[in-house]
Parts: sequence; structure tokens; C-alpha cells
Amino acid sequence: VTRTRILAGNWKMNHGPSQAARFFADFLPLVEPADGRSVVFFPPAVSFAAAREAVQGRPDVRLGVQNVHWEAGGAFTGELSVSMAADAGAELVLVGHSERRHVFGETIDETVRKTVAVLEGGLDPVLCVGETIDERRADRAEAVVVEQLGPVLAAVPVEHLARLVIAYEPVWAIGTGVTATPADAAAMHAAVRRTLEEVYGAGAAGQVPVLYGGSVKPENAAELMSQPGVDGVLVGGASLDPAGFAAIVRAAG
Ligand code: G3H
Repeated sequence: VTRTRILAGNWKMNHGPSQAARFFADFLPLVEPADGRSVVFFPPAVSFAAAREAVQGRPDVRLGVQNVHWEAGGAFTGELSVSMAADAGAELVLVGHSERRHVFGETIDETVRKTVAVLEGGLDPVLCVGETIDERRADRAEAVVVEQLGPVLAAVPVEHLARLVIAYEPVWAIGTGVTATPADAAAMHAAVRRTLEEVYGAGAAGQVPVLYGGSVKPENAAELMSQPGVDGVLVGGASLDPAGFAAIVRAAG
């Protein structure tokens, strides 16, 4: 199966509207549209309109939001609904990023509700999974990822599967400068793929891209993406720099 390469930048709580505009003015000339790869940014919500304006005329660059609430609207101060994100021009939504899980206490049940709401609202969820260092040391890395994936997959009907993206991000590799070895990444991606196949069968599961995230940089991106089963990358810190992220995009070939 040939899956489109996805190069995604998650800006987290960085780059307001003016910085977002400056970023794209620098970044877009460095990256030619290319077949077989898709570039995605998750700017902060307040920078979304600036980002959208900047990427007009570049269908190879898509935008998403970093989080949504599962309800359609109402008294939920500080939250965004899926339909509001879609109206703003978002095509994708991060769900269950490790900072949502570990800093803000998001539960597996909440990731299920969010994934279902995103799919029902016509957007593509990027479900993030990954183990902490304690869980890895206790030899529970695969078990944790399977526990995070299982309830979500049980709620995603096969007809929606073509829009699901998974990102494997070991928590100990995020923002630390420590990257999973290519072999560790390949082993965890294989575990994610097996879990998908157990639920949907090999054919349907084969459509789902699985990205790696955690201290991806221009220097290690090509090697990580050369691993079997690594379909792209979800980049935090290194996606804030136009030249650095352009180098990561080009590393996808
Ligand atoms: O969403 C991105 C990940 O959390 C990775 O962040 O590249 O800064 O380690 P990082």
C-alpha cells in the first residue's frame, strides 16, 4: 500500500497572527507542491485566519486545529466546536495530543468523543498516542498505546477509516531533544498497524497513515521516515522555523 506522506507542524501555543503571516511568507517559497506528500499546520486558533489567508492558492498545504470540544455549541467557555473549526477552514483536528492528556487531564473517553465528533463533522482526526518514560521502563509501551487506541477504534466505523490519521508520539521524546531510535519507532508503528488490522482487517487498516512525533528535526527526519510503517511526521518545536520545517518537508522526498 502506498500512503501519502504527511508532514505536519503543530505550533502548540506559539506564533500569533503576525508571526504566522511572517512564517508562511518565508516558508512557502522554500517548498514546491509535490505529488504524494501533504503538508499540514496546526496553528493556534487565534492565528488560524492569518494562516488560511497566507496559504491561499497552495492546495498542498492544509490547516487543522489543535483541539475541539465534542459538543456542537453552547456554554463551554474557551472551547471550539468541530463545525466552527470547519467553517474557519480547518480540514484536520489533533485529538489526544500528549499535552492534552498529561497537562490538561484529557481522558481516553474524551478522545473517543472528540474523534467521533470530528469524523461526524466531516473533518479528519489526527489521533495522538504514546507512552511515558515510566510506562516504557515498565515494558508497557505497546500495552499503553493499544489501550489508548482500542476504545477509539471501537467507535470508528470502517466507512470513516479513510479519514483517520494516527500519530505515535512517545511522551519522553516530545520537546526533549531525545528521539526514539528508528528501530523503536518502527517497532511501535508495527504495533499500531497490528492493532488497526485486528479491528478492521489488513485491507482497510492499510489506508490509515501512522506518523511519528517527538523531537523530529531536519537532521533525523529522513532516517525516521525511511523506517517501514512511518508514513510521515508530526513536528512541534522544529515546525516553528520556516527553513527547518522546509528541510523536514523536503526530507520526505
Ligand atoms: O505535536 C508534536 C509533538 O508533540 C512533538 O513535539 O517536535 O517539539 O518534540 P517536538
